[in-house]
Amino acid sequence: MEQEKEINKKIEELRQEIDKCDKLLIEVFQRRMELVMGILQNKRENKLPIFHFQREQEILERALSNLDEEHYSNEVEDFLRNILKISRKLQSQKLFPYNIVLIGFMGTGKSTVGKKLSQKLAMEYIDTDALIQERTGMSINEIFQNYGESYFRDIEKDVIAEVSNMKNTIILCGGGVVLNKENIIALRKKGKIILLKAEAATIYGRIKEDDTRPLLNGQMALETIEKLLQKRKETYKDASDIIIETDNKTVEEISTEIINKLYLMDEYVGKECSK
Ligand code: S3P
Repeated sequence: MEQEKEINKKIEELRQEIDKCDKLLIEVFQRRMELVMGILQNKRENKLPIFHFQREQEILERALSNLDEEHYSNEVEDFLRNILKISRKLQSQKLFPYNIVLIGFMGTGKSTVGKKLSQKLAMEYIDTDALIQERTGMSINEIFQNYGESYFRDIEKDVIAEVSNMKNTIILCGGGVVLNKENIIALRKKGKIILLKAEAATIYGRIKEDDTRPLLNGQMALETIEKLLQKRKETYKDASDIIIETDNKTVEEISTEIINKLYLMDEYVGKECSK
């Protein structure tokens, strides 16, 4: 009995120490975030490049250099990685307080670029085709085969209306989303629209083995792509706020270019930011 009391007392003391640690951690964390915001504001005012990803690596390496397993090195790494991610997310929300919408022809790299952007900016992403497949329980091919294109476009329109209302999300649109003006009006309300462009030959090279695109099934050829691309060219252009050429560029280069172009559209860049 007496012994149990002693143990409970000890545990209670340790808990109080933990509470003190948490309080300190929160204070230090908040201080860190304020410093990050200070740097961000400075960079915006002086038009300096943002998101110094190399610096994240340096922070991690420096912090871990003297630690070994006994000093919780794995856990410290996890902890720091999370802090860096939260910090990136906070900066993205400040810099890009809208949805980033990727449009473009099939095979222009919307999905790969979108995932990369989501990683770099610590922003959520959503793929409209994936959402359509999830909602209907069918693949895009099955929807086209069983119900036809106009049925698919109706579902697509509903999905676009829904995702357009999201906040701070990267929205990857199916290649035909631009065909309906209403979709673009909806997406533009809370988003900036980025067009990924590629030459027909590049697109053909990227998707020729792929049979998940019903519009090209059975007629996968450079000429088919050229024709459809030509037909949609102006519509894509008219819908976009930013155009990115993707030929001969890596995903890393394309996503960095998007971030930089969006950053330069920021009305505060080069001016003193209000607090
Ligand atoms: C389409 C593009 C596809 C998909 C559907 C129709 C189009 O999306 O939505 O097959 O009309 O261009 P991806 O561009 O993501 O392949």
